[in-house]
Amino acid sequence: MKQITLIALFLALVFFTFGQPSKNIIVKIDQHKADIKQTMWGIFFEDINLAADGGIYAELVKNRSFEFTTPMMGWKEQRKGVAGGSLWVLNRGTANQNNPRYIRVQNALSGNYGITNEGFRGMGVMKDKQYDFSVWARWAKGSEVKLRIELVNAKGEVIGSAKLSTGSGEWKKYSVSFLSSATDPKAQLSVWFEGKGSVDIDMISLFPKDTWKNRPGGLRADLVQLLADLKPGFIRFPGGCIVEGRDLANRYQWKKTVGKVEDRELIINRWNTEFANRSTPDYFQSFGLGFYEYFLLAEDIGASPLPILNCGMACQFNTAELVPTDQLDPYVQDALDLIEFANGSTQTKWGRLRAAMGHPSPFNLKMMGVGNEQWGPQYIERFTYFAKAIKQKYPSIQLINSVGPNPDDDRFRFLNDTLRKMNADILDEHYYKSPEWFLQNAKRYDDYDRKGPKIFAGEYAAHSVGIPNGKTKNNWRSALAEAAFMTGLERNADVVNMASYAPLFAHIDGWQWTPDLIWFDNLQSYGSPNYYVQKLYSNNRGNYTVPIEMNGNVIAGQDSLYASASVDKTTNELIIKIANTIGREQSVSFNLDGLKGMDAKATLTYLRSDDLNDVNSFEKPTTVVPMNKEVIVKNKILNATLLPNSFFVFRIKL
Ligand code: AHR
Repeated sequence: MKQITLIALFLALVFFTFGQPSKNIIVKIDQHKADIKQTMWGIFFEDINLAADGGIYAELVKNRSFEFTTPMMGWKEQRKGVAGGSLWVLNRGTANQNNPRYIRVQNALSGNYGITNEGFRGMGVMKDKQYDFSVWARWAKGSEVKLRIELVNAKGEVIGSAKLSTGSGEWKKYSVSFLSSATDPKAQLSVWFEGKGSVDIDMISLFPKDTWKNRPGGLRADLVQLLADLKPGFIRFPGGCIVEGRDLANRYQWKKTVGKVEDRELIINRWNTEFANRSTPDYFQSFGLGFYEYFLLAEDIGASPLPILNCGMACQFNTAELVPTDQLDPYVQDALDLIEFANGSTQTKWGRLRAAMGHPSPFNLKMMGVGNEQWGPQYIERFTYFAKAIKQKYPSIQLINSVGPNPDDDRFRFLNDTLRKMNADILDEHYYKSPEWFLQNAKRYDDYDRKGPKIFAGEYAAHSVGIPNGKTKNNWRSALAEAAFMTGLERNADVVNMASYAPLFAHIDGWQWTPDLIWFDNLQSYGSPNYYVQKLYSNNRGNYTVPIEMNGNVIAGQDSLYASASVDKTTNELIIKIANTIGREQSVSFNLDGLKGMDAKATLTYLRSDDLNDVNSFEKPTTVVPMNKEVIVKNKILNATLLPNSFFVFRIKL
């Protein structure tokens, strides 16, 4: 009896593995279903996890203008032998309201007194690369103090140096460049004072020369390249909760982030204190990456700019402060002025500033978010003021609305119902959920109102375990669930016009939230499996969807398969995306109904991994990366064996 059971079990297993008949999938190439907007797959940028200062903004000096709450945070006084120097922190008050503090160094002769900056968890420098040092300074009358600048490696050895001699008695910017003789992810910068006298110092800065597009004071090239490789349809900035602030004083105010860098007022980063287990006391926003730079970045990577503005509400998870509606005018004015800054002629106040900063032509702003993750009637009340003023002056600007932090609770239902009645343009849905939720919700948009507001899946990520506290990994399980879910976004491209994974960046030594799309340290960066899912979607967007069906139904979970199909008009190709979310192979036959010839050439790009827990890392950045293969279509049929737990993208020449 036992033997018969074992044989039956063995036969069942053999059939299950090898005997499964090929699944018949029909793709109706001639049936144009829904246009896919150029904005469909985009990116979400927020200064969380050291994404801006210490991340994409290539400045290597932390607290360069001594404006952190603790003025000398990140700096250390240095004394060798008989030093004879000292410093004071001075405050100019209203004479320089945005950047009041500077230091005064009183020095004796020796040159053994200096200050050292630790950088953002060290400074990443590369052998034979140029580094550009600058400082604002003024010398006291008769002062003979010279500056000796030294780049030192983690062992304390000098790997680059330069000198600045005595200068003016008025505040001026001084610059000097030098090469690094070694590569080190944890270098530091010292400024030594030589000669007798007194000198005032501010804005001590060090940038690599090799920034993105070699812009002085620019962005980290490797990180921008990872964004450019996504070919994103839009970039949402500057967040996220950072828009709201813990309180209203801490909100993001775009006007304070444009103009000269030295005049941009620094504030604490709200993620500095958000999570007790990841407290980051040295996290501030210098706004070296401000709204002008965000617009420029969008233009560089071919993405439509999507700014999100504060709507008179601070983060409802924190203080939930509200601006009384009779005091909303400055907030609404900020929104109007931002449109002028982006699109206005150079004769307008804000268009003139854009031109003065180096960009006379407009940035072509078409959409704007009002409020981030707000909820409740207070949001509707405030949004109404914005909508009225913006639509009156700029009727073509599309407005993006919050529908709260969760896609299926009472806060969502209230805003969703109310905003639909108000004929809102675009609703911004957020979901940080389990991989299972993503699989179960692949049909979420199939029944959405086709005539109502469009959907922006503005923040989403499959969280492999609960809260974003570090245990939640960017593993293949989460990425595959997102890939499966995204077939549903694409299938419903007439309703879902935009989508972005969140958050975007995380510094390995300075994160607050996991999972994140791209990980970096001071020198290197890599894309997570989730990054490659995003890349496969945005690099294989197509212009319109076509039906893809199994047994007459959309493919959204039957036999653990999820699929969508689209046509790329520019290359004249059919694109099929299919996720096999079970741990065994599945054979499928795609019947290409409407294909002109009998045979066709096709390519396959796929992602897979044997273990759903697999992640990419600095040591193994390519554990889960796209692989390519040639395939052929014979007699209008494309046969394929989908690997266990895999995501396949086919491009078939039509
Ligand atoms: O992406 C991280 C945070 O998640 C965003 O700042 C916020 O909008 C959401 O709660």
